[in-house]
Amino acid sequence: MNLSINKKNIEVDVDPYKPLLWVIRENCNLTGTKFGCGIGQCGACTIQLDGVAVRSCLTPAQAAEGKEITTIEGIALNEDHMHLLQESWIEEQVPQCGYCQSGQLMSAHALLSKNSHPSDADIDEAMSGNICRCGTYPRIRRGIKRAAELMILDTNAKSKSHGEME
Ligand code: FES
Ligand code: FES
Repeated sequence: MNLSINKKNIEVDVDPYKPLLWVIRENCNLTGTKFGCGIGQCGACTIQLDGVAVRSCLTPAQAAEGKEITTIEGIALNEDHMHLLQESWIEEQVPQCGYCQSGQLMSAHALLSKNSHPSDADIDEAMSGNICRCGTYPRIRRGIKRAAELMILDTNAKSKSHGEME
């Protein structure tokens, strides 16, 4: 089966019904995506398929064929620059034990891709499937709001410098 993961094509020889979580971890050696419950209840395994947050423990590998898979390893801008969401996570000191956090970030990233100015209610709804046993929810909310601010500032700065070049 041919998969596209973090914008790289990869050929894997797997049972098409193998959960994508284990294809990502075992066949693609990308271990940032975590196993929590395995039954779709915790969100630790969240990745994106064509930009939509999905639980990879419940997604068969064949469902990802022809789609772009994005994992936590794929959201940084490049090797030297984190995504602004990741920067805001550090700024707000969001993680505690950290186990749930790649799933939290993937859900937050999907939210900000379609809603650049989410309200508290928008955040709570988008993040409702991601459980944090350490209870970092207030910091997650602050991290998402800070990322939204940074992304708007970044867009404004880019528009300004683009205008100055014209
Ligand atoms: S491991 Fe997938 S939802 Fe918990
Ligand atoms: S930071 Fe520990 S489970 Fe979320």
